[in-house]
Amino acid sequence: MTETPILSVRNLKISVPTDEGRAQILDHVDFDLAHGQVLGIAGESGCGKSTLMKTILGILPRQAVVDDGQILFEGDDLLSMSVPERRKRIRGGGISFIPQDPFLAFNPVFKVGKQLTEVLRWNGLPGEEPGAALTASFRRKAREQLVELLRAVQVPDAENALDRYPHQFSGGQRQRLLIAAALASKPKLILADEPTTALDVTTQMQILKILRDLMQENDASMLFVTHDFGVIAQICDRVSVMYSGQTIETGPTASIIDAPLHPYTQRLIGCHPEKSEGIAGIPGQVPSPLAPPPGCRFGPRCDSFREKCALRRPPLNFMDGEDHRVACVLREKEGAQ
Ligand SMILES: Nc1ncnc2c1ncn2[C@@H]1O[C@H](COP(=O)(O)OP(=O)(O)OP(=O)(O)O)[C@@H](O)[C@H]1O
Ligand SMILES: [Mg+2]
Repeated sequence: MTETPILSVRNLKISVPTDEGRAQILDHVDFDLAHGQVLGIAGESGCGKSTLMKTILGILPRQAVVDDGQILFEGDDLLSMSVPERRKRIRGGGISFIPQDPFLAFNPVFKVGKQLTEVLRWNGLPGEEPGAALTASFRRKAREQLVELLRAVQVPDAENALDRYPHQFSGGQRQRLLIAAALASKPKLILADEPTTALDVTTQMQILKILRDLMQENDASMLFVTHDFGVIAQICDRVSVMYSGQTIETGPTASIIDAPLHPYTQRLIGCHPEKSEGIAGIPGQVPSPLAPPPGCRFGPRCDSFREKCALRRPPLNFMDGEDHRVACVLREKEGAQ
């Protein structure tokens, strides 16, 4: 357990000034992703999952402010690097991104091959510098690499697929193309933002399996954002649960699903369609980042709320003898019943 994690996020705080005041979008986000593992980031809509991914990639809107924290990629803090240094570290086999929506990610007027070649040029062919000139030799190498990857992600007729337009593919096939594009530079770390939410369940399962297999073949690690615990059970080794911009529980998938400790995680898992409650099972709403409640942000929606919950933000405490952390006063030793 002494190996440096591929990614460690420490006490990350991000805010955005708005016309109505300062929105505290991430507040004390904290987790580790070990080499070769998949870490799921779970939470309801609006809890800050995409903002977290954008912060790691360095593509936050210009007005966003990093108030505190570190993002350690192989032990080096991306937030303390200059923009060119950071780009160099991310591109060319460092970190790549699979976006959420396979319908929006492609430009409809260009052939898929042209668009995927551009992604490869940006990220770099494996073993080559990013940003190479679009020479005939680069095009040929990129094409060979892409055809091989399209076969790996099981796009039918991979040889000819690159000469088609995006609308000639189904949603599931387009998602496979996006996975191929993200894996083409053989990244060490893959960030996937709800990559299968737009797809039907069967396609979703096939794609998750392909993604997991390719990740293992390439010795990569993955941060996988989703609100679906069914997907988490299938693909993630560990889970980090976020609520209103804060990490509130983190641990191995089996212990989070079988024995969730935070009342929010308990309710969220109860929301899975295979269980009894619907998504409306948690009364109330995620608070606005403009005016989050004091102390535990889940307090106003929590059945176990007590006065001290509103006094301070509970720290993420390790549970005895377990690789499982939770931020809840009910689980603090002096506060435990
Ligand atoms: N540029 C911005 N300015 C102001 N508020 C923002 C900005 N970007 C995001 N937010 C707010 O931050 C919160 C988190 O947004 P984010 O998109 O990260 O959530 P999410 O967990 O990815 O949600 P979803 O599951 O719907 O994709 C939301 O309340 C959102 O309205
Ligand atoms: Mg999102």
